[in-house]
Amino acid sequence: MKTYFITTAIDYTNAPPHIGHAYEKVLADVLARYQRLRGREVFFLTGVDQHGQKVQQAAEKQGISPTAFTEELSKEFLELWKKLSISYDAWASTTKRKHTIIVGKILEKLFQEGWLYKSAYQGYYSVRQEQFLTDKERNEAGEFGPEWGEVLFLEEENWYFRLARCQPWLTSFLEKHPDFLTPAFRQKELKNAIEKMSSDLCISRPKSRLSWGIDIPFDPSFVVYVWFDALINYLSFAEYFNEEEELSFSQRWPCDTHVIGKDILIPAHGIYWPCMLHAMGFSDEQMPRLLVHGHWTLHGEKISKSTGNVLDLMDLVNRYGVSALRYYLMREAIVGRDADFSEERLLLRYHTDLSNGLGNLLNRTLGMVVRYRPEGLSALPLSKECNKLLEDHEELLERYCQEMELSNIHASLEIMMQIVTSTNVFIDQTAPWKIAKDRTQSDRLSSILWTLLQSTRLTATLLLPVVPAAEKIFKQLALQPVALGGEKELFKFPAHYRASEGEPVFPRLIPNS
Ligand code: ME8
Ligand code: MG
Repeated sequence: MKTYFITTAIDYTNAPPHIGHAYEKVLADVLARYQRLRGREVFFLTGVDQHGQKVQQAAEKQGISPTAFTEELSKEFLELWKKLSISYDAWASTTKRKHTIIVGKILEKLFQEGWLYKSAYQGYYSVRQEQFLTDKERNEAGEFGPEWGEVLFLEEENWYFRLARCQPWLTSFLEKHPDFLTPAFRQKELKNAIEKMSSDLCISRPKSRLSWGIDIPFDPSFVVYVWFDALINYLSFAEYFNEEEELSFSQRWPCDTHVIGKDILIPAHGIYWPCMLHAMGFSDEQMPRLLVHGHWTLHGEKISKSTGNVLDLMDLVNRYGVSALRYYLMREAIVGRDADFSEERLLLRYHTDLSNGLGNLLNRTLGMVVRYRPEGLSALPLSKECNKLLEDHEELLERYCQEMELSNIHASLEIMMQIVTSTNVFIDQTAPWKIAKDRTQSDRLSSILWTLLQSTRLTATLLLPVVPAAEKIFKQLALQPVALGGEKELFKFPAHYRASEGEPVFPRLIPNS
């Protein structure tokens, strides 16, 4: 089976990482961990976007070189992703030699094949968005709104990519391959944007204006436009070359899940990127699949470096822990929609679902096994009530997997919680503490305890992709995670089992604000 290739946007290193960046990396990490749990080989790529005007300006402001500046900030991203247990397999950083060589080779190839030309252009330019503006970008008052920042009138020669030539192809591609874009409700937006696509893409910047970028190999007074450089990371860090360093299709392509935020769908990933791949010779079957997530807001406002309402990520992790933060981000946001960040909700989710729900189930189960079967527990035929519960859980497991395959992580977690709740209800209804007093029901008690162990083990397994610290539950249970890789017997159990009680895995948190 093909390696499951998942990647995220690479983050600008003009400011420290914020909660939006963390959300995107956790989201991709959960999908990667889920695929690994299913027994698939995974290639998970993430990294940093280090070139461009924003970075050059931020470095100038601090009076240091862009190289020193991006190195420092990249360290912060690396440190945070380590702390958040982001299990990436490869790190993309666009200043790496390997990447600059591949960008150069791709440009040479496109140039030779007639996809690039040089031309003079006069027009308005947004410094903040690093793009030329057309009348489309004017607001109802006929002006370029504040979202464009400082707007300058420039005249300069530049290199262009024949983007407009791709319009008929992209239109028909999207029609034939609606799965290019998830969630589906974004398709209309993209279709409208493709209909309006009329001009070519300027892919160079004169060095006199911007020097912090990759040289255009056949015209060294220019550097490559940051988006054209950055998008290529998805190829250069997926080994898009053979031993002779010639361009070739990587075994890892196509990308199975390309995680990005809604702000970089149009035009970068929804238009430029597929057109670049098409021009490079990628077939329709070799196009990536985009998964577009929404944005986190704080008190209803977008969290971003430019509005300044950023939460201190390291501080959040230190106060609440990785498990609570990861669980909250995944449980609360519906992939594709926006979500509003709240520390109260974070605590509530953690306490309700993990400390109380799953934590209680684990403690009750282990407590009873230790108390009622100190000598251990042997495998035996299950009673009817137990079989019924486990059958229900197998069905829920199937639904959990279906939702995960659709990247509906919040729905998967809801299903995981249904297993927790139904098992806790099962305990209350069967009341093992009463059965324990009746010697004639000894086999029934064993059957119930065995079933509780299986259900606890199953929930902990389903929590693993989102909360890697759920590993600790398996140490306490002295059992392995349930094998989700298509094994016939889902609930394998040792012939003889002995449990011991331990520390709570999800202790209650007392926030020190
Ligand atoms: O766009 N909530 O970098 P970036 C959720 N370097 N996600 C958010 C967010 C929020 N409040 N704010 C930003 C770039 N993001 C380019 C990408 S890819 C070849 C180059 C997401 O640091 C955003 O949607 O501005 C994007 O997917 C990612 O964070 C990086 O944003
Ligand atoms: Mg951005």
